[in-house]
Amino acid sequence: MPHQFNLVANGTSAPKYGNVILIGQTTQKNSIHPQSQRACSIVSSTNPYRKISRFNRKFSISGELPYELIPFLLLLKGDIQNSIPDIRHEPSIDLFFFPLTLVGVSTPRSFNCVETHPVVAEAWVSLQRSIVHFRGQPVGTIAALDHSTEELNYDQVFLRDFVPSALAFLMNGEPEIVKNFLLKTLRLQSWEKKVDNFTLGAGVMPASFKVLHDPVRNYETIIADFGECAIGRVAPVDSGFWWIILLRAYTKSTGDTSLAELPECQRGIRLILTLCLSEGFDTFPTLLCADGCSMIDRRMGVYGYPIEIQALFFMALRCALLLLKQDEEGKDCADRISKRLHALSYHMRSYFWLDIKQLNDIYRYKTEEYSHTAVNKFNVMPDSLPDWVFDFMPTRGGYFIGNVSPAKMDFRWFCLGNCVAILSSLATPEQASAIMDLIESRWEELVGEMPLKICYPAMENHEWRIVTGCDPKNTSWSYHNGGSWPVLLWLLTAACIKSGRPQLARCAIELAESRLLKDHWPEYYDGKLGRYVGKQARKNQTWSIAGYLVAKMMLEDPSHLGMISLEEDKQMKPHMKRSASWMC
Ligand code: GLC
Repeated sequence: MPHQFNLVANGTSAPKYGNVILIGQTTQKNSIHPQSQRACSIVSSTNPYRKISRFNRKFSISGELPYELIPFLLLLKGDIQNSIPDIRHEPSIDLFFFPLTLVGVSTPRSFNCVETHPVVAEAWVSLQRSIVHFRGQPVGTIAALDHSTEELNYDQVFLRDFVPSALAFLMNGEPEIVKNFLLKTLRLQSWEKKVDNFTLGAGVMPASFKVLHDPVRNYETIIADFGECAIGRVAPVDSGFWWIILLRAYTKSTGDTSLAELPECQRGIRLILTLCLSEGFDTFPTLLCADGCSMIDRRMGVYGYPIEIQALFFMALRCALLLLKQDEEGKDCADRISKRLHALSYHMRSYFWLDIKQLNDIYRYKTEEYSHTAVNKFNVMPDSLPDWVFDFMPTRGGYFIGNVSPAKMDFRWFCLGNCVAILSSLATPEQASAIMDLIESRWEELVGEMPLKICYPAMENHEWRIVTGCDPKNTSWSYHNGGSWPVLLWLLTAACIKSGRPQLARCAIELAESRLLKDHWPEYYDGKLGRYVGKQARKNQTWSIAGYLVAKMMLEDPSHLGMISLEEDKQMKPHMKRSASWMC
């Protein structure tokens, strides 16, 4: 029996969106798909009722709402167009859902009322507006929708930037755009890639692409950048890894294995990994990289074996093992992957790991040791230990340091690498706990007033001059040099949930929520505590928006974590001495 309800839209966003049109109609209370309870979503397909019909619900618009239908406010395009001029001309939007707070009458006790922050609805509108279409199909999201400043390449679809958007869409039951993106970028991989007269490896994936519209021929084409236009001319090593990780997230979330099984996808995976698994002069299983080949795409002293790339490499290898078919080529590749994973996990867990015990050992290292018996294998000089690390290191806790190479340890803490280490289970459960312990005890430094520091600490003065090459965009506590990046919130949230500390993520999300919308979703914040909108930060930066949404959705329904997290592989035995970070 339908019940009559009074409905109000949640929070302050309600009046702004104009007239309410009520929705109806599901049948049994317990059979409502959790997604429809949770979602605060925008339906943007040609069939606006898709979400409902997918769950086999009859749909009708009426003034009555059966109590079983968890509160959604539905706004038709006409109402939206009258009240939000910005999206008046957005052809792809048919219908909006917003979550409601139910007030009042005859609400059954068992009713599970969804309370969603008003920022969420606004974030969905902005994410929707960032979608890029190619010949009528959604294929990605633009990096930033900010016309107030020079666009440079922020009007392109970046592979790494699309990851949180993709996760948001998958969590919201909209996998099509993710599938289109994976296929489109796979085609780009087969382009011939040249920087001046030099040809890049066949597996290289682009950093970004852009859809060009020829108004005369009314025809769309794509251009892609593999590093030949990027500042510094460096190819993005992370793009291919993110592509594999996303393919696995798509497969896990939809249960559709047919995409990954396509011969071209299998080939794409193998080509990406061939770039990294080839034999050469390497003595380490880690991957040697140039500065600026990942999210930090400018000179920042992260050349060598940066943690961000090593953690993504590890995760991509593990995802590839799950995706590769057991045919001849697949098996051969899988064998090489397994060997590399074994060596890589040993190397990372042994040499990149730092806690108070390890720090103390390095502090007392002897140098100039030779032969197999050497304790100080890379000949690290204790004098190269920076002063800050002694204060930063808590008694309980630890992290994977930024870089390890001969006589060089970069002791900086990097967010992305440490979170991905947790998600991929590169970190043992004890190490994952220790990383979270460190974040908790260094909350002020790493989270401050805006989550989350890309790295800690910033380089200053002479060091900044030498290492960044006097880069004015990377001054101390700005941008890549100790700036705070809201996009990292989704990674923190995922890592928190995986290591059983959702309350930490909740605190971080609340901090971000109080400012992001007001500040128009900046790309990054500046200052030791992240109090200031970044000097050159773009506004309406899509991955800041999507990162927030993913964090919210994941916290609300932790089962989403599965698409971006891998369980510990017991075969890769941790080869670590017991250490102070997990003794108590
Ligand atoms: C900046 C960031 C890079 C990002 C790009 C687009 O160059 O350093 O990580 O992909 O902007 O947002």
